[in-house]
Amino acid sequence: MDICGGGPPGSVVTTAGLHHHGDVEATPGLVDLAVNVRSGPGPDWLRAAISGAVADLSRYPDPSAARASVAARHRRPADEVLLTAGAAEAFVLLARVLRPRRAVVVHPQFTEPEAALLAAGHTVDRVVLPEPFVLDAALVPDDADLVMVGNPTNPTSVLHPAESLAALCRPGRTVVVDEAFADTVPGEPASLSARRDLPGLVVVRSFTKTWGLAGLRVGYLLGDAALVARCAAAQPLWPVSAPALAAAEVLGTPRAVAAEYGIAVELAGDREYLVERLAAVGVPVAGTPASCFVLVRLPGADRVRLALRDAGYAVRRGDTFPGLGPDWLRIAVRDRATTDRFVAALSGVLAVAR
Ligand SMILES: Cc1ncc(COP(=O)(O)O)c(C=O)c1O
Repeated sequence: MDICGGGPPGSVVTTAGLHHHGDVEATPGLVDLAVNVRSGPGPDWLRAAISGAVADLSRYPDPSAARASVAARHRRPADEVLLTAGAAEAFVLLARVLRPRRAVVVHPQFTEPEAALLAAGHTVDRVVLPEPFVLDAALVPDDADLVMVGNPTNPTSVLHPAESLAALCRPGRTVVVDEAFADTVPGEPASLSARRDLPGLVVVRSFTKTWGLAGLRVGYLLGDAALVARCAAAQPLWPVSAPALAAAEVLGTPRAVAAEYGIAVELAGDREYLVERLAAVGVPVAGTPASCFVLVRLPGADRVRLALRDAGYAVRRGDTFPGLGPDWLRIAVRDRATTDRFVAALSGVLAVAR
């Protein structure tokens, strides 16, 4: 285990590094394989819900219908749901209301949960999972009273089994599972979102990934009613806009869940294709990927990334993730034609580099 500040030699993980995200790398003009948000216009019913709300912005937003819809989706009472301005806001709220004696963040993972804890004045201990990055609950210290873990995890794309996460839960400990990418896995087999029996469990979710709504800012947290009320009290007034709430309301419905399933099945095929194409040019994927991105280790990946930029492609650097280093890259799953063009460009870059 690593006490805040670790990473392999050459790692550039700093507080600034914790705030580095793929959108900085996906500059205009480049083909974007750096950001894990699905592109495309989205279905008519979603666009209609959002534009209907945009047509009448004179009223302050009322979250009750969205809250009821999301609660029904996860078979929970409405007072166990808090709509937030993306999953990112949920991490900040949790960091502000919780008073952990020993907070542990399981890495490699999305860095904002740790950044939020540090910004709120907490000390963070890191548990860094070794390759293939599968959670071993025994690695988490017994006295941790706050544990933050992602599932499926960004950037590894690894899906931890539900039982491993459940094994972390116990009275006196809050376990925050970031399920921002749960809807990218068909049928969400490892989601704990409907588990009301696990003490201290908080699940954070996002509608920004699969539905391409990063700019709208819409997510939520699920947990026991008392903690939800404390997080709600820490929110500013009207934190989630009416268009974002309209999206959440319609995305809580069975129609949306069925559509997500279809998207996730197609994604799984496209991911398999990407994995095969990468293997064919001698680039193996780490772990067992389950989400809309894959992680690769390539000697000199930092230079490969820059050469790919020159060839017109943005991929996500790995060295700002605790536990990784300059030899790692994260690559988003795209349609097969884009994958073919990208892998051809990568192969050209590698031919020069090797
Ligand atoms: C694992 C993970 N969780 C949460 C978020 C934040 O999502 P949102 O757009 O809902 O704030 C991200 C964004 O990149 C992420 O990668």
